Amino acid sequence: MITEYCTITGNAAGDSEIIRRAGKIIREGGLVAIPTETVYGLAGSALIAASAEKIFAAKGRPSDNPLIVHIAEPGEAEAIAHTNPTFYTLAERFMPGPLTIILPKKDCVPSTVTGGLDTVAIRCPEHSIAREIIRRSGHPIAAPSANRSGLPSPTTGAHVLADMDGRIDMIIDGGPCDIGVESTVITLTEGEGGACGCVILRPGAVTKEMLAEVLSDVTVAASVIDPNLALGEKVLSPGMKYKHYAPAAEVVVIQGSFETFWRYIRENAGGTYGILAFDVWRETAEKAFAEIEGQGVFLSMGSSAAEANQRLFLLLREADEQQLNTVYTHLPPRSGKALAFYNRIIRAAGGKITTP
Ligand code: TXA
Ligand code: MG
Repeated sequence: MITEYCTITGNAAGDSEIIRRAGKIIREGGLVAIPTETVYGLAGSALIAASAEKIFAAKGRPSDNPLIVHIAEPGEAEAIAHTNPTFYTLAERFMPGPLTIILPKKDCVPSTVTGGLDTVAIRCPEHSIAREIIRRSGHPIAAPSANRSGLPSPTTGAHVLADMDGRIDMIIDGGPCDIGVESTVITLTEGEGGACGCVILRPGAVTKEMLAEVLSDVTVAASVIDPNLALGEKVLSPGMKYKHYAPAAEVVVIQGSFETFWRYIRENAGGTYGILAFDVWRETAEKAFAEIEGQGVFLSMGSSAAEANQRLFLLLREADEQQLNTVYTHLPPRSGKALAFYNRIIRAAGGKITTP
């Protein structure tokens, strides 16, 4: 299959010929990689079982790992799921945006899309190109991240091309993604008098703290913190049990003071290695590079948790391009936007935290 690569610059999504063609491809059962504000998605119709099968095949993804269904307006959830007042309370505040809510599904959604579950994950993306393609296709859109299964999610058109060339009909390059980590996935919990709380199954840019401003009871699934638990715990989010986000380089996440962190690197690093850290540590890293035998590369997380999230997957891919054998990073905090980084980096490290 020849994959058509199209670039859209600016936010000129409105009446573009490319958008119209993308909508048609999806409506007719094909696949198009699209930009969203989180990561690039591999989009196919959520109403056509064969499209979901093609998505699983193109990604090399196990078919019991359900897909997120994307809609252009929160109200479009009615057609595919049994909604409730809490869904709309959250939609009012966070949609369009990087929040995915799991609801009981309606029959029109093929079970292939939901990995056999009787629930469906719903997200209304904010990116204007993504929303316009959903509108043009006339279908809700199933879209997992557009990476080959097990690799870091793509945050640029070039990443998608590297993973999907020859496997899908079209790639739309809309520039780098703003957020860089996938949406926050939540499931609603019932309290007295109906739904009033939620459990975070995957942390993202909509944080626990932000959700707690709207819902009385917000908890984080144990597997978010400790991926090893995802195997034992009742699997709430099937995606959590698979190894994810892993570059070929070994990722070493170090717990302890920063003094301990730098000492560990000085004593253990060698060959071609990377240090993934906030920009304030650049000078310290360069001093360490001079002392350590081998070739050190500084992988800058920028200067805020949001910037670190935005760059994370790009840096993990860069680690492989530069053929680093090991990437060292300090254990991030588990609050605010840093929880999303924590969750991904722990998975990239195969669930292991190093405590020197
Ligand atoms: O930001 C995002 O959410 C991106 C962009 C493209 O929108 N999409 C994305 O999709 O990350 P994907 O398929 O890579 O991740 C979907 C996650 C998986 O962990 C999956 O197990 C979980 O959501 N999920 C989907 N449907 C579910 C369901 N019915 N119940 C529980 N978890 C579900
Ligand atoms: Mg994914």
